[in-house]
Amino acid sequence: MPSSHSKKLAIYPGTFDPITMGHLDIIDRALNIFDRVIIAIAVNSAKEPLFSIKDRQQMIRQCFPDKYSRIEVDTVSGLLVSYAAKKGATAIIRGLRAVSDFDYEFQLALMNRKLERDVDTIFLMPGFRWIYISSSIIKDAARNGGDVCELVPEHVNTLLLEKFSKQ
Ligand code: COA
Repeated sequence: MPSSHSKKLAIYPGTFDPITMGHLDIIDRALNIFDRVIIAIAVNSAKEPLFSIKDRQQMIRQCFPDKYSRIEVDTVSGLLVSYAAKKGATAIIRGLRAVSDFDYEFQLALMNRKLERDVDTIFLMPGFRWIYISSSIIKDAARNGGDVCELVPEHVNTLLLEKFSKQ
């Protein structure tokens, strides 16, 4: 066990609107590499989320009833890399699903490195069964009555059903 001095911390940022099985897969993989992971709900100015930040925070916390010592759920406003540096993180975790993710992720990672040289981006691949999912496609299916129960945790599925039954 490393001393508390050398404990490695990573930030896993995203919109998480909502968290999916693909995100959980990435978090599991990150926990195999890092001692602690902060799941950081960040603002993507291009997106208009379905769930409030508070709801997303609660949804994510509910996924980890027994891993609290290694996981923290937080929100980030402002620059992600400044937050990462302030927390003492050495890495930002991003999931890479398909080739289509690459251009955007490459730009993001390079800009982040330009802004903060001491924080590296690490890309992890989710399991093959999660390669083609995204929060948007799941919401779109659920909004139109599709069954997404295998793609999100059970409590998230319940919240999606509730949300769309009201619309
Ligand atoms: N499984 C399933 N879906 C996945 C996934 C996985 N393993 N990995 C990514 N995705 C999906 C997400 O669900 C999301 O889907 P959506 O577009 O349908 O919502 C999409 O891939 C990627 O989004 P996400 O991972 O949530 O990131 P993002 O692109 O919305 O967010 C931020 C990017 C928030 C990290 C970025 O905008 C940021 O850093 N913001 C803070 C401000 C800042 O520092 N800006 C300067 C950046 S240089």
